[in-house]
Amino acid sequence: MSKPKVFVARRIPEKGLGLVRDFCDADIWQDEMPPPRDDLLARIQGVEGLLSLLTDRIDSALMEVAPNLRVISNMAVGVDNVDVAAASARKIPVGNTPGVLTDATADMTFALMMAAARRIVEGEKYVREGKWKTWSPQLLLGADFVGATWGIIGFGRIGQAVAKRAQGFAMRMIYHDPAAAPLFGATPTTLDDLLRTSDFISIHVPLTPETHHMIGSEALSRMKPNAIVVNTSRGPVVDSEALYIALKSNKIFAAALDVTEPEPMPADHPLLELQNCLVVPHLGSASKWTRDQMALIAAQNLIAGLKGERLPYCANPDVYN
Ligand code: GLV
Repeated sequence: MSKPKVFVARRIPEKGLGLVRDFCDADIWQDEMPPPRDDLLARIQGVEGLLSLLTDRIDSALMEVAPNLRVISNMAVGVDNVDVAAASARKIPVGNTPGVLTDATADMTFALMMAAARRIVEGEKYVREGKWKTWSPQLLLGADFVGATWGIIGFGRIGQAVAKRAQGFAMRMIYHDPAAAPLFGATPTTLDDLLRTSDFISIHVPLTPETHHMIGSEALSRMKPNAIVVNTSRGPVVDSEALYIALKSNKIFAAALDVTEPEPMPADHPLLELQNCLVVPHLGSASKWTRDQMALIAAQNLIAGLKGERLPYCANPDVYN
């Protein structure tokens, strides 16, 4: 029996790729950069399965040219790059990789918050530039964690994992998420109260039309002058232009971004001129074990879809109704 044809949009870790090769006739995109739109459109024709990454825009026009497509497996927990409604309309299940990246992303949130609060990157630069002449009583003073209030926007798996870590720091923790019950000592509150009273704010919501630019000029204007904002969710949840104005005018203390708008962020972006803005290139899930597990789950989702089985992790379970 011939193997089902699939397109894999990048070289993912072998843990998943090996499985895909065993079961499928796999066309694997070899370049470091994602497939350009025209290549994606050309390569997807005739495939039954697609293993995509968050850098690939999978919309209805793309599904249109692939009439045999039976499963889309996205190697990410977020599926904002996929038109899930269009997939559902075609009864195509969309797979994602929740759970395995929760801890890595919460760790990255903490690393960014600590780096911004204690001015690690500024300090490192200071040393490399040869400015370190003596211990100085007022040099690069940052923020204290103990006793501070950490506001968590979005209290799903990752938000909760952040609260679990923050417990060890004797902080007051509040969260905004109408769908979530209190856990790990964090108490629910309104978004307005969270923005007005938090010293540290971290964002853990998916990107949807409702959360797009959720942190814009209005939200930023309600924050305390010592507030630090960390985003490890999706770039467009924060309005980059509004953030630039707030940071430049010291309306808030600092921001640390793992995800940006636009993404990737060009080196000449105004935000990168600011000392109080720290940016890393979307590394939330970038640990060896985590990426191996994501690749494995993405492969398992793909293969389940090709076999006509329910995906182990499906972002649009309505296709099974
Ligand atoms: C990473 O950002 C993911 O959604 O998995």
